[in-house]
This record gives sequence, C-alpha cells and structure tokens, in this order.
Amino acid sequence: MTTNAAPFATELTLALGCRDPIISAGMGGPARAELAAAVSKAGGFGLLGMVREPPELIEREIAAVRAVTDRPFGVNLIPSATESGLFAAELDACLAARVPALCFFWDVVPEAIRRAKDAGAIVLYQVGSVEDALAAAKAGADVIIAQGIEAGGHVRGRTGILTLLPEVVRHVRVPVVASGGFATGGGLIAALALGASGIHCGTLFLATHESFAHAYHKQRILDAKAGDTVYTDLFAINWPPHSPVRVLANCVTQEAAEHWFGNHPDTLPREVIAHDDGRPIYKFSTDSPLRSTVGDHEKMALFAGESAALVNTGTSAAEVIERLVGEALEASNRLRLAMQPAWGHRHHGSATSNC
Ligand SMILES: Cc1cc2nc3c(=O)[nH]c(=O)nc-3n(C[C@H](O)[C@H](O)[C@H](O)COP(=O)(O)O)c2cc1C
Repeated sequence: MTTNAAPFATELTLALGCRDPIISAGMGGPARAELAAAVSKAGGFGLLGMVREPPELIEREIAAVRAVTDRPFGVNLIPSATESGLFAAELDACLAARVPALCFFWDVVPEAIRRAKDAGAIVLYQVGSVEDALAAAKAGADVIIAQGIEAGGHVRGRTGILTLLPEVVRHVRVPVVASGGFATGGGLIAALALGASGIHCGTLFLATHESFAHAYHKQRILDAKAGDTVYTDLFAINWPPHSPVRVLANCVTQEAAEHWFGNHPDTLPREVIAHDDGRPIYKFSTDSPLRSTVGDHEKMALFAGESAALVNTGTSAAEVIERLVGEALEASNRLRLAMQPAWGHRHHGSATSNC
C-alpha cells in the first residue's frame, strides 16, 4: 500500500509551499516564534502574531523561527489597529527580513498589500464579508481568509462561516481559507467541501504547549463547553471603537450582564488588573494573559472561538496537525463509504430503467 505524503494538497499549499492546508492564526501575544515554527515544521503554515509589537521584537521572532525550521511562515499585522508610524516600521522590519508571507486583518488597506507585494511577499487577508474579500482581492491579495462570527479574538465576520465561505468562494478567484470554528479534521473536510483551500485556526493552537498564552487561559479553553463564549465589544481599550471580540464568559462579562455592546474605549474606566513585563494592563483592554503576565488573569480578555468546545486536550502543535490530518482522512473515508450504496443504487436503477 502506498501512503500519500500530502493527502490534502490544495491551491493553498501550492501557494504557500506547505504540506497541509492548515494555518495557525497570527494571534497577537500567544503566536510567537515557538508556535509559528512548530506549526510550519510540522507541515502546516505558522503565522507570527505581531500586532503593535516593536520592530526589534519582530526581527527577533522572525530570526527565532528561522533558527528552528527552513519551512515557510508568515507574519500577521493589523494596519487599522496600529498607529501609522509603528505600522510602517513593523512592515519595513518584515520586508527587510524577507518574510515569505504577510497576513493582514480588519479594514482592507490596499497600500499595505501593495508594499508587501512589491517586496515579493505572499499576501493573505482575513476579512469578514464579501465586500472586503473583493476589495482585498482587487488590491492584489493572494489568499483570502474568510472569518465567520464563530471566531475567537477580534471578530470581523457578521455571519456564520457555513454561509460566508461559499459566498466568498463564489466571488473571488484566489484561494479562500475558512476561519472560525475549525478544530477537527472533519471541519477541514467540511471547509474543503464548501470550496475552501484550507483552514485557519486560532483557539486550537492557543491551547498547545508552544503558544505563549498563560496556562490559565489554556486551561479555561480546555474546560470550555459549547455556549461558553460571549460576543461583545466590552474589551475595547487599545483598539478602534466598535470592534467586537469573542471571549470566554468570565467575571467581567458576568458583571456587565446587559451591556455587552455599546462600549467605547475612551469612556471605559482605567483600572490596572495585571502587569506584563512591567507594563500595566487595564480591565476592559484587549490584552489576553500571556506566560509573562502577572495579576488577575480571570479579569482579562480570555479570547476564544466557539471551537473552544472542541479543544479538550493540551498537546504539541505537531500533534494537533497530525491529528487533524488523520481525522480528515477518516472523515473522507466515511464520506466515500456513505456514498457507495447511493452510487450503487443509482447505477443499478439507471441500468434497469426503461426511460
Ligand atoms: C487569542 C486570540 C488572538 C487573536 N489575535 C489575532 C491577531 O492578532 N490578528 C489576527 O488577524 N487575528 C487574531 N485572532 C483571530 C484569528 O485570526 C482567527 O480569526 C480566529 O482565531 C478563528 O477562530 P477560532 O479561534 O475558532 O479558530 C485572534 C484569535 C484569538 C483566539
């Protein structure tokens, strides 16, 4: 029997130069070199989450990925959530280091795409609507990541991925990747069936050994059940207003009860609840607890997607990729088996028909 070394090769794996169509999200904070390198080394495509990080840190993290693997990887930046001077410096650092790919999120900023493309990088753009997908593709993005409302962290999508994904696939010619709610191999097969070329997972990788998230955040994800997340704009400090997030319900969301929407970063009180490398962390800020964070972790933004319900064991990133591919193979075999009787029946029917 021959084994297929890349059973799910797609347009995406071809474009990115990876084996498996699985991207680990560039989560600002948790997705540092240890995680991105482990994912790329295991056959997926790792993204560094570098939103609002100083260029020196970005240079160090890029070098740290390269010290572990020579497989391709990318860097995630968020133009509209970053002061313009810092964003330009971040992008300069990435392009000077010749990162293979850049992944952008939130408002579509054609200039960012143009600069990255001119420097020879592959551009992925995570969007939440057909309009933004069209704008990103028109500006030259090579891959569109469609984010559904199920997603963890900042949520640009306003509708479920089951409807958004095929809609985006119908409208753009470039490979489309499904984001939000994916944490199993069956999910990968479902995404491929809907026209995606791969999946993009955040919560799943946040819980791995290599992520830089604090152990408290990881454990809360492992313990979470369906329905434990809250969609809200309560964690607003540090971001433009009206930017919804999905988090695990915690004492802050419980306290806010009926006020999950309509919050504004400028009017929320400034109360220091933790520190990270000496930097104060405010209640209602978008900071999530990291390995380096000391303080009241429960009061912080415990970002998680609905997929948290499917993440029950803390493993390495390589084990996650291996499990997803194994489950996806099983799921595709189940589909084949499920279809056989129907095919046999239909063929039999047509052979005996007089029509
Ligand atoms: C902790 C956390 C932090 C995130 N930070 C970012 C970020 O900095 N940039 C970004 O493009 N997306 C970010 N996201 C969103 C992801 O890109 C992705 O849309 C989401 O994780 C998909 O849903 P899932 O968590 O169910 O896999 C973050 C998600 C999480 C869970």
